[in-house]
Amino acid sequence: MEGRATVRKWLLGGLGLLLLLCGGGVAAVTWLVTGGLSVNTVGKVAFDRPLKVPPLAPSVVDADGRRVFDLTAQPGDSDLGHGAGTRTWGYNGAYLGPTLRAQRGERVAVNVHNRLNEPTTVHWHGMHLPAKVDGGPHHPIPPGGDYQAAWTVDQPAATLWYHPHPGERTERQVYRGLAGLFLIDETEDKTGLPHDYGVDDIPVVVQDKGFSGGQLSMDDRFLSDLGVLGDEILVNGTPGPYLDVRTGLVRLRLLNASTARVYDFTMSDGRPFAMIASDGGLLAAPYTTRRVRLSVGERAEIVVAMRPGERVELRSARTGLGVVHGGKDAFDVLQLRAAGELREGALPARLATLTKLDPQRAAQRRTFTFQGRGINGDQMDMRRVDAVVVKDTVEIWNVANGHDTPHSFHIHDVQFQVLTVDGNAPPPELSGWKDTLFLEPRRRYAVIAEFADYADPTTAYMFHCHVLRHEDEGMMGQFVVVEPGDTPRLSHN
Ligand code: C2O
Ligand code: CU
Repeated sequence: MEGRATVRKWLLGGLGLLLLLCGGGVAAVTWLVTGGLSVNTVGKVAFDRPLKVPPLAPSVVDADGRRVFDLTAQPGDSDLGHGAGTRTWGYNGAYLGPTLRAQRGERVAVNVHNRLNEPTTVHWHGMHLPAKVDGGPHHPIPPGGDYQAAWTVDQPAATLWYHPHPGERTERQVYRGLAGLFLIDETEDKTGLPHDYGVDDIPVVVQDKGFSGGQLSMDDRFLSDLGVLGDEILVNGTPGPYLDVRTGLVRLRLLNASTARVYDFTMSDGRPFAMIASDGGLLAAPYTTRRVRLSVGERAEIVVAMRPGERVELRSARTGLGVVHGGKDAFDVLQLRAAGELREGALPARLATLTKLDPQRAAQRRTFTFQGRGINGDQMDMRRVDAVVVKDTVEIWNVANGHDTPHSFHIHDVQFQVLTVDGNAPPPELSGWKDTLFLEPRRRYAVIAEFADYADPTTAYMFHCHVLRHEDEGMMGQFVVVEPGDTPRLSHN
């Protein structure tokens, strides 16, 4: 049974190849664009398992007043819908990791233990912190090794996440299950938004998987240049999940923790919902929409209004990308089941004060074009510094996707603002803080960021494509933040 999807994939792939080889080029292309390779699970998901909610990670406050967490990367067995014996990896468990949570202003330390049989790292995606503890490929933790990252949390409330970032192994480590959320809270939440974790404030970690013989399969989709595109969806590691809702408003913290897939989230009845936050924190005000699109690594927080007794599903609709990029796929993702009586709530009109970074302040403008498996024609080189940034300055980065493959652009250390998309003002969903940006085929973007607080001439931060196959294959560059007048001297070669 488990191998059926894979067998079908190969049969379809073989059929496509056969058509091509028979000189039936036109027929093959027609078959491809009409969706011969696509997956559609809408209406076919049983929704018979309660959504698992990742536990909040326990922490202790040490003698220095630091909040200390422990994360152990370890192998295990999981039931992902194909029997109980699927071999997976997780932090402090068999699959995914606990949710870390800290307040703005707090000092935190995370002790990471590697109990895998290969090197790993933990990167704090979206976090503003010193390069030394950023968890990039320069700092592998060997099998059996331990490592501590410590920093002061100093940024607005947000849904961040953590995942491995070792050289060339990120796709498979994340795919096997290594990922978790890191939530930042303001010292005082004055918004009135739903905030009861697991009750009306729900983590929704979305991943696509393929299976073969009851095990996770990393077979690429036929002709795909993105890596794995799975034909089943897990939410927080739960296949076919439903969530019992007891409040009139439910806040979903959506994270695309897939390796390659772009999702276009909608509700099954087309109802509008409120988008309240992007990667780096709250929007200025709720934005009412019917769709929210997330490329790999992006987050969005949405608030969905529910009526007593109803059932409605979160779906992922066709994205409009090419069929080999999963653009013709559609999925049922999560069923929301409202109780007969719901606790009332109201959405605030204003959420946060967003100070716009002024383009006039830009000390430097750079251009990065994503094409092939490189950025500006270069592959990742751990010894090369691609950009030297002066501490506490503002820069504008012009980022372009030069071809027809979708990419996802991520900068470490900073949250940026989108200035333009193809020269125009960004849409409302890109009006807030971002650390990851969907690079649509053949579009150009300008983003602005301030590289504040931390300079270290010896250690690089990364910027890269978050399609993990692309990242592993070298679609990544490095920047070093220095004090004025200083020059980089990388120490980890
Ligand atoms: Cu989420 Cu450099 O990665
Ligand atoms: Cu890419």
